[in-house]
Amino acid sequence: MMSELQTMQNVLVAREGHLAIVTVNRPSKLNALDDATIAELDAVFAAIDRDDTVGAVILTGAGEKAFVAGADISVLSKQGVLDGKDNSLRGQAMMLRIENSKKPVIAAINGFALGGGLELALACDVRFAAKTAKLGLPEVSLGIIPGYGGTQRLPRLCGTGVALQLILTGDPVTADEALRVGLVNGVFEPTELLAGCKAVALRMISRGPQALALAKQMVRRGAHLSMHDGLQLEADSFGIISSTAEFKEGMAAFLEKRKPTWLRT
Ligand code: COA
Repeated sequence: MMSELQTMQNVLVAREGHLAIVTVNRPSKLNALDDATIAELDAVFAAIDRDDTVGAVILTGAGEKAFVAGADISVLSKQGVLDGKDNSLRGQAMMLRIENSKKPVIAAINGFALGGGLELALACDVRFAAKTAKLGLPEVSLGIIPGYGGTQRLPRLCGTGVALQLILTGDPVTADEALRVGLVNGVFEPTELLAGCKAVALRMISRGPQALALAKQMVRRGAHLSMHDGLQLEADSFGIISSTAEFKEGMAAFLEKRKPTWLRT
């Protein structure tokens, strides 16, 4: 995986065993998402999905101030009707790639997560924030609307009332407030954030990789289905997982009172 990503400037990928740490790396612009950064994130997550040695991903921002301070406003300011729509679709596609990735993706929100930055975090599976982070969708204060999924993912995660408060005021919330409304899963001191995220990632990595991928898929696909269809899909997949070597290993390890060995090359 590393060789095809070595030339990237705006997104860095580091490996620690089966963990991949992806860092949006434009600290002088508070990691704002320009076209190149969106394309690089898209390529990175495509490569991660193909790489069986990656068990989980942490996504964070470079520097101490920001996770991602939004879509790049200097790019947005030049857009017209057609390229505005294209821009939205490109950002949405990259975030869908993260949401639909086979690997669990944890957002380590180390500072400002505004606009496209919060939308990026919303596409991740689990979010943890530094106590100092600020999270919001300030688009209406710029005379625009969220365009990378914020109007859809935020109400699904936190409910319509919370989403509309954030979207219609444009005002950010603190990490503690984000925790209270279910926008993040936990809050850490800034110096503890990465270690906290790694601990959760390592728990996930210790589990069966195919089970993780299928369980995530059930939750993601189920969100678009009726209860009835979602339960059918779950039952089908519960049958399918019973055909895997991973199933046999997980069951055998429990019965033999030993730790399972998963197939991760
Ligand atoms: N797009 C492009 N550039 C951005 C950016 C964005 N979304 N957010 C920050 N930057 C740039 C600034 O223009 C500045 O660049 P410069 O040094 O070349 O002038 C640099 O990042 C540092 O930002 P600055 O505003 O000086 O930092 P600050 O600590 O004073 O303020 C924020 C931090 C996050 C409050 C402020 O940068 C901000 O409001 N950013 C825009 C947030 C936003 O509306 N995002 C949604 C976009 S849809």
